[in-house]
Amino acid sequence: MKRFARITGTGSYLPPKIITNSELEKTLDTSDEWITGRTGIKERRVVDGESTCDLALEASKRTLEMAEIRASEIDLIILATTTPDKIFPATATMLQSRIGANCPAFDLQAVCAGFIFALTTAQQYIENGVYKNVLVVGSETFSRIIDWNDRSTAILFGDGAGAVVLSSDNTAGIKYSKISSDGSYLSSLHVNNNYINEIGYVEMSGNEVYKIAVKQLANIAEEILRESNLTASEISWMVPHQANIRIITAIAKRIGLPMSKVILTLETHGNTSAASIPLALDVAVRDGRIKKGDKLLLEGIGAGFSWGGLLVEY
Ligand code: COA
Repeated sequence: MKRFARITGTGSYLPPKIITNSELEKTLDTSDEWITGRTGIKERRVVDGESTCDLALEASKRTLEMAEIRASEIDLIILATTTPDKIFPATATMLQSRIGANCPAFDLQAVCAGFIFALTTAQQYIENGVYKNVLVVGSETFSRIIDWNDRSTAILFGDGAGAVVLSSDNTAGIKYSKISSDGSYLSSLHVNNNYINEIGYVEMSGNEVYKIAVKQLANIAEEILRESNLTASEISWMVPHQANIRIITAIAKRIGLPMSKVILTLETHGNTSAASIPLALDVAVRDGRIKKGDKLLLEGIGAGFSWGGLLVEY
């Protein structure tokens, strides 16, 4: 019998420490008005000693609880992160041990598109009948690789984790998925160290990233609708990577989706990279906006560039 992949649980976790725009005004030549107007972000969470694995563990526990499975029933853990706790071992294996699972575990790095890439990878294992339950996590502590004196990046990012359990089912949850990369944009957005043991910080050409993000995310949204034979009016919710309200608004406008059908968390989360989509998904599942049977359009882009999207029936 053909197997399909379906999301059976979501969870998320944010570290308690908040940095507001007003606090950033004290150390940077910026203003709450500028940040809010240009990005939609008001505040972000940052770690205060917690690790990427700590955040992933809390989000994963909540996810397993909702999916009503025990850690021993997880067949595979994929952890999307750009900010692993160590170069090695993989943060996913630390999570495997701490949550009490007995399964293969690996990290996946596609920066802000990491969760989309991880979910698509998990889908393959399930649809091919290899595994039954895959824990897919996005967890980031970007605050550790931000130069807090650089106003062009310090205002944007935040820390957090989100996760889903993707399980084998006889009806399709994931109905379409697509990932793409174009590695010719290295200098547009990268960490600026030359060697792996040298300290480096996020460096970005905001304008360039902005234009590519709008172009590729609008293209992938249109492709998902076309390939799924759907119109925008048939989409229940778009759950986009939370980078900038203006990027999200431009995409929604291009496909004719009202902003009332877009899940937004960036005002209070900022850009949490690979964690932003599962975080937004979990918020909207738990507050009751996303319901069983809803058609979700998930999409994200990250440095590289790498981008992708999925049509998911929740
Ligand atoms: N506070 C106040 N002023 C700032 C500022 C800040 N934090 N950052 C930049 N500025 C200034 C610039 O110096 C510039 O001043 P000038 O006109 O005197 O030269 C002006 O604001 C406009 O800068 P610009 O970079 O053109 O702004 P923008 O409208 O492109 O907005 C970003 C900047 C970063 C918000 C926007 O480009 C963006 O969001 N890009 C995408 C970034 C992203 O999503 N990255 C992650 C992808 S996963």
